[in-house]
Amino acid sequence: MKSLIITSTLDVYENFDELPNDVQQLMERAFEARDQAYAPYSNFKVGAAILLDNEEVVIGSNQENASYPSGLCAERTAIFYAGAKYPEAKIRRMALSARSLNHRTVTPIPPCGACRQSIAEYEVKQEQPIEIFFMGETGKVVRSGSLKELLPLIFDNSYL
Ligand code: THU
Repeated sequence: MKSLIITSTLDVYENFDELPNDVQQLMERAFEARDQAYAPYSNFKVGAAILLDNEEVVIGSNQENASYPSGLCAERTAIFYAGAKYPEAKIRRMALSARSLNHRTVTPIPPCGACRQSIAEYEVKQEQPIEIFFMGETGKVVRSGSLKELLPLIFDNSYL
C-alpha cells in the first residue's frame, strides 16, 4: 500500500477590486444574474457568468422548485444554456457569486459537487481548461485555473 497525495493550486484575491478589469466585468454579470435568481425556498441566490471564446457571455442563476430536487444550480443553468446556444464555442472562464438573504456571505463559495462534475464534462469535451473565479457577496475571490483543481479525480468518458 502507498499513499497518494493530491494537491490543488488556487489563487486568492483579497477582494473584488484586486481582480483584473475584464474579470471584474464578468463578475458583475454574475452579480446581476445572482440577484435575479429564483430561490424562494433557500433564500440563497447564486449567479454564474460564462465567457466563451466567441466573446459571448452567457449567464445563469439557480432556479428552485417546490419539489426541491427539481431545481437547478446557477452553474448548470448557465453551462447547459451555453452548450445549447453555442455548441461549438469553448468556455474560457466562469465567474460565480452567491448571496444569502439571511446573512452576509463573506467567504468564497465554490460550486457544488454536481456542478463540478458538469463543468468537468465541458472541460474534457473542449480539451482546454476552464478558469473559474468564485466569491460570496463580498470579500476574497478564489481563482482556479482549471476545473481539475476543484475536482482532481474526475469521472470522465475515458472510463466508459
Ligand atoms: N446552489 C447553486 O446554485 N450552486 C451551487 O454550486 C450550490 C448551490 C443553489 C442550489 C439551491 O437553489 C441553493 O443554492 C441552496 O442550495
